[in-house]
Amino acid sequence: HAKYRVAVIGSGNWGSVASRLIASNTAKLPSFYDEVRMWVFEEILPTGKKLSESINEQNENCKYLPGIKLGKNVIADPDLESAVKDANMLVFVTPHQFVEGICKKLVGKLRPGAEAISLIKGMEVKMEGPCMISKLIADTLGVNCCVLMGANIANEIAVEEFSEATIGYRKDKEVANRWAQLFTTPYFLVSIAEDIEGVELCGTLKNIVAIAAGLVDGLDMGNNTKAAIMRIGLREMRAFSKLLFPSVRDNTFFESCGVADLITTCLGGRNRRVAEAFARNGGKRSFDDLEAEMLRGQKLQGVSTAREVYEVLTYRGWQELFPLLSTVHEICIGQLPPTSIVEYSEHTPNLS
Ligand code: NAD
Ligand code: 13P
Repeated sequence: HAKYRVAVIGSGNWGSVASRLIASNTAKLPSFYDEVRMWVFEEILPTGKKLSESINEQNENCKYLPGIKLGKNVIADPDLESAVKDANMLVFVTPHQFVEGICKKLVGKLRPGAEAISLIKGMEVKMEGPCMISKLIADTLGVNCCVLMGANIANEIAVEEFSEATIGYRKDKEVANRWAQLFTTPYFLVSIAEDIEGVELCGTLKNIVAIAAGLVDGLDMGNNTKAAIMRIGLREMRAFSKLLFPSVRDNTFFESCGVADLITTCLGGRNRRVAEAFARNGGKRSFDDLEAEMLRGQKLQGVSTAREVYEVLTYRGWQELFPLLSTVHEICIGQLPPTSIVEYSEHTPNLS
């Protein structure tokens, strides 16, 4: 039987937790090699030490996941090529803005027959139109690429609190099941759905709704308002996904990647938290500024995703159909005040 070797590309907050989760399984399951190579975007810590060396010495990512042991079989590697060289299962988990550059460096470096999965929530917009991150990976590297999305705040999974996730795949169920086996633990239940675009768009678009929810919190509006924003957001998420990909299924929105991720991110995510601070400052401090101060190296995905989706909406003339998605972007760039987040609701279109 084939034996699988896993590499994780990315070592931020979720990257570190995903590596820990995977390594707990590869250590037990005979069809996987124990060792999990985790590519680290190298940086120098305030102590003068390299992050990758510190991770290997302490078995802990002191910058992005302090206080949590990763498992002895997680090996940090700052050299991208060496991290992936022997792997036939590649897990992509970096902020979405960096993935294209990383993929370009990996062209021709992968083992033949390697499979990929993306845990990245975001999209790229090209001249030709929007491109999902899994497709960018698949097309650039000539590999099959599934996605794993869900209500997965990394710090909670790090301490093994129960949660669920959804793997989206295209056609090859056997491969999807192998990924599910790699990720499933008693506290992390993974299901599979043959709707890769739907699963990935859920994970991508909910970050925009989370910004809206954070604005509502920062304006000290109550639970009814926040629930309304989440409902309108979910409806726009579904309508936008179906306009882009008519194959997207309604059921996907009831999986962990859909409504559950929307709820957790709007309650406890980083996009929500920074958007709350943005509204409390009356929009006077930029998201970039607040992100740097509040997240110390961690990255928001919602602000850039709002811009990317806005480009698609304006290009296709769909702006009127998606007042919440459009308004979030206009608030982020300072064109509208944070209070506008609730002002379009009287003329919300009927999206069915
Ligand atoms: P993070 O935001 O915690 O950390 C940022 C990472 O980007 C760090 O590893 C940093 O070294 C790296 N980085 C900085 N500059 C870079 C560059 N130029 N090139 C390459 N890498 C660079 O990262 P994360 O939380 O692991 O997020 C990765 C993806 O996972 C995102 O799409 C996010 O939406 C998704 N996600 C995150 C969570 C979570 O709770 N953190 C949960 C689910 C999904
Ligand atoms: P934030 O990036 O807003 O923290 O969201 C994390 C997430 O995707 C939870 O599933």
